[in-house]
Amino acid sequence: MKQPQPFQLGSLTLANNVFYAPLAGCSDFPFRKMSATYRPGLIYCEMVKMDALVRHDQNTFHLLDYDTSMHPIGGQICGSKPEIAGKAAKIIEDLGFDVVDLNCGCPVDKVTKDGSGSGMLKTPDLIGEVIANMVAAVRIPVTVKIRAGWDDSTINAPEITRIAEKAGAKAICIHGRTRQQAYKGPANWDYIKACKEAAKEIKIIGNGDIFDTSAADRIFSHTNCDAILVSRGTLGQPWIAEDILRHLQNLDPIHRSLEDCRQALYQHFLYTCDYHSARRVVVDMRRVGCWYLKKSSGTRAFRELISKADNLDTVRDLILNFPLQEAECVEAFAETLTDT
Ligand SMILES: Cc1cc2nc3c(=O)[nH]c(=O)nc-3n(C[C@H](O)[C@H](O)[C@H](O)COP(=O)(O)O)c2cc1C
Repeated sequence: MKQPQPFQLGSLTLANNVFYAPLAGCSDFPFRKMSATYRPGLIYCEMVKMDALVRHDQNTFHLLDYDTSMHPIGGQICGSKPEIAGKAAKIIEDLGFDVVDLNCGCPVDKVTKDGSGSGMLKTPDLIGEVIANMVAAVRIPVTVKIRAGWDDSTINAPEITRIAEKAGAKAICIHGRTRQQAYKGPANWDYIKACKEAAKEIKIIGNGDIFDTSAADRIFSHTNCDAILVSRGTLGQPWIAEDILRHLQNLDPIHRSLEDCRQALYQHFLYTCDYHSARRVVVDMRRVGCWYLKKSSGTRAFRELISKADNLDTVRDLILNFPLQEAECVEAFAETLTDT
């Protein structure tokens, strides 16, 4: 069992090595506000496009909103043009972010078609060039997030690990799936282990299928990674970092009752009301409500009703007053969360 420990990322000391992932469309301001309550070592914002940043697109800047409770916080940029990578990274630094990450994992066609996101896995040297330009432009640590490879026949994560290290990245996060897999099938942690073996100085962050404390324990043991990045496992379980860190220290688990889940959902709702328009709150809560109360058959009716709710009062009333059948708060299941 690996003890949680402060994590050194270049000159930055993080309190622990359990991080929360960038999740486009999910890890918005209210989500990160909830996450920050449970003190993960680092919280990443959802990805933003380099092009949009350098042309000062206001919607893109809006995605990067944060408050002081969310430090240490990482901004993630996506793009494949070395000539703007430094400028984009500098914008992230100037906004006050603690870390800047390069996205080399996004599988979406409209991102990969110009060679960005996981499209970068096909051009490892370009990854090195982009990282080197980011490193040259900022003082904050630069990290990179990749997948195992484009497909099963082109696994190149260990090669990219060496390239990223040489280019000056302080950590590399490996999602143990290929681009071809998207989110299907299990993540293969052997690829993360291979990257750890390839690394000299660069820190290895393991990612993929960490939905509970036991998976966190197993990925550390299996791969010898330095840190972990929890992704879909954070949806509806903002406390997962706290649970993992307690587990790794052999402390008693905190019981999360269904009523606790309701209260957390209500807090998430309040944060969302503070940040987004009423219309947006209603739409978001259809998803967010299901994350928090996904776990037992007793909540099925709740999930059906909130999915159809069309105004703020109905949503609030459902969250606060819907009779819940008390049961233990179990972890959300991977397969039910891929369509978030
Ligand atoms: C809805 C959704 C949005 C995501 N957005 C991002 C993103 O903005 N940047 C990124 O690097 N990865 C993104 N990912 C990938 C996750 O961070 C993570 O690598 C992947 O889900 C594997 O981890 P998991 O199996 O623990 O969920 C996203 C995944 C999902 C499901």
